[in-house]
Amino acid sequence: MPVKPLHISGKLSHVESSIFTLMSALAQKHQALNLSQGFPDFEVDPVLIELVHQNMKAGHNQYAPMAGVPELRQAIVDFTQDLYGAQYHPDKEITITAGATQGIATAIATTIREGDEVILFSPAYDCYMPMIELNGGTPITVKLEHPNYSIDWNQVKRVVNHRTKMIIINTPHNPSGSVLTQDDLNALAEIVENSNILLLADEVYEHIIFNGAQHLSIRSHEVLKQRAFVMGSLGKSLHVTGWKTGYCLAPEPLMKEFQKVHQYQVFCTNKPVQLALAEYLNTTDLRAIGGFYEQKQKVFEKALASTGFKALPTYGSYFQLADYSSVSTQDDMTFAHELTVKHGVAAIPVSPFYRFPTDHKVLRFCFAKNEETLEKAGALLAKLG
Ligand SMILES: Cc1ncc(COP(=O)(O)O)c(C=O)c1O
Repeated sequence: MPVKPLHISGKLSHVESSIFTLMSALAQKHQALNLSQGFPDFEVDPVLIELVHQNMKAGHNQYAPMAGVPELRQAIVDFTQDLYGAQYHPDKEITITAGATQGIATAIATTIREGDEVILFSPAYDCYMPMIELNGGTPITVKLEHPNYSIDWNQVKRVVNHRTKMIIINTPHNPSGSVLTQDDLNALAEIVENSNILLLADEVYEHIIFNGAQHLSIRSHEVLKQRAFVMGSLGKSLHVTGWKTGYCLAPEPLMKEFQKVHQYQVFCTNKPVQLALAEYLNTTDLRAIGGFYEQKQKVFEKALASTGFKALPTYGSYFQLADYSSVSTQDDMTFAHELTVKHGVAAIPVSPFYRFPTDHKVLRFCFAKNEETLEKAGALLAKLG
């Protein structure tokens, strides 16, 4: 008797492969310069590699404590105090996560129930919406204003209601590189102050800040801090995205609930990596990371200046948006495909970051690459006219 095929109905069966996976695969197939997915193409500091090795050799190869090793929790709490003047208790208000992605998923799973509304801003990084929906929540998207990608707080006020459970903030912003200002933080505080609305602050690019901007963390504002899960990514900050190590900071009552979910999702993350990152953080000048990336941004912006692409302003993250409307009238998906296949440069179209069709004819380029790669990409783009 033939085996009857299973009928499988996954909760995210409507979701396709992400645009990052698609464009990276296309770049590989056509051997294009890959400025699409957000990861560095340069070497990791050998000191950091050696620290992981040493910790493995020293026998730190079994489970870490559920919240993360104390050394790493302390190092993050220390830089949070130093950079943002914000205090968190290292034993009660921080958890080390498997990248910020897991922290975001856990914070949403911890708090969002059927019928809850979650406000997010589009274009948005791709992991927020599916997690809201998986947990029965309803995403409410507010569009950032093109081309500055700033927030119209009056629009936010209009969509807030008694079902609003959470607002998701991402600064510095992927894909645009825009950053929140003090006025933005104040406007947000005014909206949430007398409510039970929670905040999820995705600050994975907190140290990648340049062009005269300052990273204003949600944790630096008392009203916002009190209700916020703040996510960071050591993978992003220290050029080791493949190590998938991030953190979540939150006041004790929120963190207590977060850890109840975290313990069943992952229990804990990679111990030798955590110990190595703790030692490394204690001797690293995090303020220097912005300058390191500013240099790359300048090289790429200069390379774009001799092409038909127009660089939009960027202040943080390692992304550069570029308007291609004087080079092509194609929609951004078609153009990004053609750019990869015919012209040898892979970038990410911005329309998939929107919930509803929006095509401003801009592509996102990742400049976390060797300067030679960025200059080569510029030379190839210049050929388009
Ligand atoms: C805005 C944003 N949040 C979260 C993440 C994921 O961070 P991690 O690699 O630490 O999971 C990314 C990665 O690209 C991102 O751009």
